[in-house]
Amino acid sequence: MQTVEIVEVAPRDGFQAVKPFIPTERKIAIIEELAACGVSRLEIGSFVSPKAVPQLADTAEVLKRAKLPVGLRLQVLVPNAKGLERALEAGVREVAWVISVSESHNRANVNRSVDESFRAFETAWAALGPTRPKLRFGLSTCFDCPWEGRVPEAAVIAAVERAIAAAPALEIGICDTTGRAAPDHVGSLFARLMANYASDRVTFAFHGHDTYGLGVANAIEAYRQGVRVIDGAAGGLGGCPFAPGAAGNTASEDLVFAFEHMGIATGIRFDQLLEAAARTAAVAPEQAGGKLRSVPRRRALSGFAAASRGVPA
Ligand code: COA
Ligand code: ZN
Repeated sequence: MQTVEIVEVAPRDGFQAVKPFIPTERKIAIIEELAACGVSRLEIGSFVSPKAVPQLADTAEVLKRAKLPVGLRLQVLVPNAKGLERALEAGVREVAWVISVSESHNRANVNRSVDESFRAFETAWAALGPTRPKLRFGLSTCFDCPWEGRVPEAAVIAAVERAIAAAPALEIGICDTTGRAAPDHVGSLFARLMANYASDRVTFAFHGHDTYGLGVANAIEAYRQGVRVIDGAAGGLGGCPFAPGAAGNTASEDLVFAFEHMGIATGIRFDQLLEAAARTAAVAPEQAGGKLRSVPRRRALSGFAAASRGVPA
């Protein structure tokens, strides 16, 4: 059976895009509902400056109070050594360290040059002993930058090589931060990365946004190139506050529908995910996205059930 892991990032990328503070209780209720859908990995909040992203200032509290199934993997975004330290203090075992490929976005996002951010990462990671947490190394703006336009593949390759040199084992998240990548671009970059860098210690994930309606197509192209970990956000919420014009993440429910319809198992209960996606989207309905929530429920589910049994819908 072919499988793909959909990492649910609404509790980080989704929430961070929402201005009015979402009460901690409400965040926890959504996270618990998403976890109950059979999701195997969740990205919950971030340890960044509360001045930069006030919405996620309660991440430690959320992590402490959420009641989550044993075995569920949790990752938390960090941008620097201080974030790593806070994550470890909170008992987090998986961190998503983020650096942008393009100078302008890295500067807007974390107020550092790309080289400064890499040096900070290299020092912090080398200082950790063998009990270091699992690493998702998130590379933002791998395809397009709001200020610099199309990002050269050579710059992505250089960043990938530098990350691999600094960490004994890692998952590299290749991010289409603005949603402007097209499938041919996703395909050519991943073809190169998978052929030259994927190994037992280096794996790849794809993190896409659906700003231009290409999120699902891009995810499928990443899968075709061998990527088996794809990020999605329930209700299509999301967007980097420091990337003007970027809309929500590709909706998890759209990804689950597409993959299951293709006979590729996600392990996620689609009917429950639709409920959880509605609850997540309700946080900021004007910002929510995705297609499947607006398909009449019975039709979405019956088509899905038929597809998952191998019967034409
Ligand atoms: N968590 C909490 N506070 C932090 C922090 C962290 N990870 N990193 C720095 N700070 C605090 C410092 O302690 C300092 O506090 P003080 O003013 O009370 O002394 C203050 O922030 C400034 O520190 P500095 O290192 O100079 O940060 P900066 O102002 O250059 O900002 C970042 C750099 C990385 C902290 C900030 O740009 C940031 O948090 N960016 C995150 C962006 C983001 O989340 N984007 C979306 C996800 S991709
Ligand atoms: Zn994102």
